Amino acid sequence: MTQDELKQAVANAALDYVVADRIVGVGTGSTARLFIEALSGIKDSIKGAVASSEDTKHRLEKHGIRVYDLNEVTDLPVYIDGADEINSLMHMIKGGGGALTREKIVSAVAEKFVCIVDGSKFVEVLGRFPLPVEVIPMAQSQVTRELICLGGRPVLRQGFITDNGNLILDVHDLQIHDPVELESQLNHIAGVVTNGLFARRPADVCLMGTDKGVVTLTAD
Ligand code: 5RP
Repeated sequence: MTQDELKQAVANAALDYVVADRIVGVGTGSTARLFIEALSGIKDSIKGAVASSEDTKHRLEKHGIRVYDLNEVTDLPVYIDGADEINSLMHMIKGGGGALTREKIVSAVAEKFVCIVDGSKFVEVLGRFPLPVEVIPMAQSQVTRELICLGGRPVLRQGFITDNGNLILDVHDLQIHDPVELESQLNHIAGVVTNGLFARRPADVCLMGTDKGVVTLTAD
C-alpha cells in the first residue's frame, strides 16, 4: 500500500470514534484532510466540528460541516489529528503543518485524542523529525540562542507565518529522551508560544496504517 492509502485507511477508521450528535475536534495536515473528506460522508449525524487551523475550518465549511468557535464549546468527546512522530507512550511531535498551538488547545479540551498516522511515523525516540516551536517574532533571536544552549539546531521556517501571526523555528538534532520534561522546559522560554511536543497530554489511541491493516495502539 502507498503512504496515501495507509493515511486513507486510518482516516476512515477514525470515523468509529466520532460521537453521534456531538461536536468533533479536527486536526490539520494531509491525514486530517482525508479525515475531513470521510467525515463529510456522515456529516448529518454530527452536531458540528471545532477546527485546529484556518485551513481545516475552510475545508470543513466547504463540506457543509458547521464549525464552532472553541469558546462556545464545553464538551468535546474526541479530537482526531495526525502527527509527525509518535512513540509507544503515545507522546507525539506535531506541527509539521505549523498548526501546533491551536492543535494543542483543541486537544486540551477533548476527552479523547485519536492520533491517525501511517506506520512511518512510529519511532522509539522522538526527535528525528525537527521539533517545531512557535515563537513571537520579536523573540526570534533570543529563543534561537536558548534552543542552541539546549543542544538543538533551530532553523527558521522560511516564508511561514502561523494562523496566530507568529514564526516557527524547526529544531534539528534533538534526541528527546524525556518528552514530558522538555515540553515544559521549552514552554518556559520567554517568547515561546508553544512547542510541538504533545507529551503532557499524549494521544489516548493511535490508529496506525500498516500493510497488514489498521492497528490500534494505546499506551497501556
Ligand atoms: C500539523 C500537524 C500534522 O498533524 C502533522 O504535521 C502530520 O501531518 P500529515 O498528516 O500531513 O503527515 O501537526 O500542524
